[in-house]
Amino acid sequence: MACALCIQTLALALISLSFLNITIGDPRTSLVAQWCNHTLAANGAILADNFVPAMDNLSSHVNANGYGTSITGVNPNAVCALAQCYGDLSSIDCKLCFSEIRSQLPKCYPDTGGTLFLDGCFGRYENYTFFDEIFSRNDTTICSFSNNNSNPNIFGQTVKEAVGNVSLQAQNKHGFAVGSASNFNSTVYVLAQCWENLNSSLCSSCLHTAASAILSCSPATEGRALYAGCFLRYSTKLFWNVNQASSSSSGTSKTIWIIVGLLVGAIVLILLGLLIAKRRGLWGRKKQASLKDLYGLEMAAAISQSNLNFKYEDLRKATNNFKLSNKLGQGSYGTVYKGVLSDGKEVAVKQLFLNTRQWIEQFFNEVDLVNKVRHKNLVKLLGCSLDGSESLLVYEYYKNRSLDQFIFDESHDKLLDWQQRFDIIQGVAEGLSYLHDESDTRIIHRDIKASNILLDDKLKPKITDFGLARSFAQDQTHLTTGIAGTLGYLAPEYIVHGHLTEKADVYSFGVLVLEIVTGKRCSSPVGSHAEHSLLAKVWNQYKANTLDNVIDNRIYNKNVRDEIIQVILIGLQCTQADSHSRPTMSRVVELLRSNRSGDDEELVLLDPPFLDVSPMEALEGESSRLISADMSVSRLSAR
Ligand SMILES: *[C@@H]1O[C@H](CO)[C@@H](O)[C@H](O)[C@H]1NC(C)=O
Ligand SMILES: *[C@@H]1O[C@H](CO)[C@@H](O)[C@H](O)[C@H]1NC(C)=O
Ligand SMILES: *[C@@H]1O[C@H](CO)[C@@H](O)[C@H](O)[C@H]1NC(C)=O
Ligand SMILES: *[C@@H]1O[C@H](CO)[C@@H](O)[C@H](O)[C@H]1NC(C)=O
Ligand SMILES: *[C@@H]1O[C@H](CO)[C@@H](O)[C@H](O)[C@H]1NC(C)=O
Ligand SMILES: *[C@@H]1O[C@H](CO)[C@@H](O)[C@H](O)[C@H]1NC(C)=O
Ligand SMILES: *[C@@H]1O[C@H](CO)[C@@H](O)[C@H](O)[C@H]1NC(C)=O
Ligand SMILES: *[C@@H]1O[C@H](CO)[C@@H](O)[C@H](O)[C@H]1NC(C)=O
Repeated sequence: MACALCIQTLALALISLSFLNITIGDPRTSLVAQWCNHTLAANGAILADNFVPAMDNLSSHVNANGYGTSITGVNPNAVCALAQCYGDLSSIDCKLCFSEIRSQLPKCYPDTGGTLFLDGCFGRYENYTFFDEIFSRNDTTICSFSNNNSNPNIFGQTVKEAVGNVSLQAQNKHGFAVGSASNFNSTVYVLAQCWENLNSSLCSSCLHTAASAILSCSPATEGRALYAGCFLRYSTKLFWNVNQASSSSSGTSKTIWIIVGLLVGAIVLILLGLLIAKRRGLWGRKKQASLKDLYGLEMAAAISQSNLNFKYEDLRKATNNFKLSNKLGQGSYGTVYKGVLSDGKEVAVKQLFLNTRQWIEQFFNEVDLVNKVRHKNLVKLLGCSLDGSESLLVYEYYKNRSLDQFIFDESHDKLLDWQQRFDIIQGVAEGLSYLHDESDTRIIHRDIKASNILLDDKLKPKITDFGLARSFAQDQTHLTTGIAGTLGYLAPEYIVHGHLTEKADVYSFGVLVLEIVTGKRCSSPVGSHAEHSLLAKVWNQYKANTLDNVIDNRIYNKNVRDEIIQVILIGLQCTQADSHSRPTMSRVVELLRSNRSGDDEELVLLDPPFLDVSPMEALEGESSRLISADMSVSRLSAR
């Protein structure tokens, strides 16, 4: 989990801080303004190489001192960076605020510079040393729209007094001060902050200018002055953290209570964080670094230079902000939404569950790989997005949805005839054969099932969710939930020993063929219903020479009966318990073709398919443990 690390850090920080008797306040990570220096980097890749270490370096300074500068690389692709937490932030608040800077600043990439003002901290990078700059073209004031109209003159005087007083104090107090002024019944609170590297004369001129500028905000209840060298804010609300001052009062019992409170708070936070991270809720969205930041800019540069790049914002709009009514379904690795791009093109957008750094790394390699894999029976990947808070994949959209909705449909209105079913079987076989043998990289799908076969408007099959499986192999919880969902399709050697070869796909394909022909869902071969599994039923009818009984009577027809029986035999051969007895997918394609052309090739089935109940009983315990206890498949191979 992406958050696990930050939660751990947070927890450690909280616990260590609790002994220093520092409380947690408000990191004030809300965005005030961000702008980018609209100059493209001389070399985006080199800039990216320098950006990540620059941020790492900055991070260590800021975490230690609440302030830092760093210089990485040489011109014209140098990265000079500065970050400053405002003086009232505790060190944990500063960490939180800076982490937001870190995740937002890369939005300016591949521009040579970017500036970001949050309410609790400031960050900037350029390709030159700007550390002594106190003014820039973009210096500005931001005023709120709500006016304090009851007595504008008096209010204005109060603002002037407070701002003047506090900015003067800041110049004499290491660049930071807070304070307030009251007139009658209105109070104005002010915070002034210069960047720590500035000497007092530079700080003084920056705040002096900022203070005169901010007065134009009155009678607004809220005003902010954003300067290259300082930040000034006033408000009628008390907005800074007073905790540090108030909690420093003495008394052992109070200290103990604070420590206990902090520990409890930390635990609650951790639990809450885990809970929310699990649900991928608000916390993750607000505080979690963007993928681009997590991964680093290198891959970001590669992807954004490729034609695979989509903007998160565009996809968010395309899917109506991932609205429930746009949801197409729940895929193995994420939720799929229908989207309409601004040019009217329909796409399927998959919002992935996992966002860990290690995983992202593999994910982008995978995107690259999957992009190279092109076949008429494979769903085309159009691209991905990595500039948002979650990873998105963009696929071609198919109106007809997935095969399971056709063959298992009770309401018969989506009925496919035999010809259409045969074409689907053949198309899936060709797609899989391509993945196994013809693509540059050998890809085992691992998750062939009816819901992973999409149908285009001509009912041609498109296999989806391929390639990704490799990335998820590391993620054991995911693997097990994947297994739990599609147990009936899984080859025995894969369930029991975790042996994964192309023959596992052949097995799943065989099950799929039997489903298509019978119109019945496979059920798990494991457990008390093993002997009633689809495979067992078909095998028993085969032995009794009554295979006609299993054919979906919606497609049964004397003219095609022999052809259907041949296809069932292919399905049975693909589901042989011994993986060596199963044909390869390219062989299956040949068999299907010869079946069509009428060259009768005799299929002889010696062994029954995978339905031997006695070894299954031993397996049953294993499998249910496998699913319930989140164990990895490979750990079972010891047996
Ligand atoms: C943008 O970068 C250029 C140098 O590349 C610099 O001269 C200029 O001042 C920068 N602009 C801002 C607003 O920082
Ligand atoms: C100044 O800010 C505006 C947006 O507020 C931005 O469009 C512009 O590029 C910025 N200029 C520089 C030099 O950063
Ligand atoms: C940060 O960069 C400075 C040089 O600018 C270097 O001396 C220092 O070791 C770096 N610190 C880290 C943590 O990388
Ligand atoms: C910053 O980058 C711009 C654009 O690549 C370049 O023209 C300029 O010389 C660079 N600035 C420095 C100080 O190298
Ligand atoms: C200004 O607004 C604050 C609350 O927003 C209120 O308490 C105060 O009385 C107002 N002052 C004046 C002078 O209107
Ligand atoms: C302004 O600051 C001085 C000390 O620097 C203090 O004595 C005075 O009371 C302050 N004025 C207000 C209105 O807070
Ligand atoms: C502010 O104080 C005056 C008297 O000094 C009073 O009449 C008025 O009601 C007060 N306003 C508010 C909003 O409390
Ligand atoms: C402050 O720094 C600026 C720029 O580095 C310098 O020109 C100035 O002389 C310094 N002022 C004092 C008082 O040190």
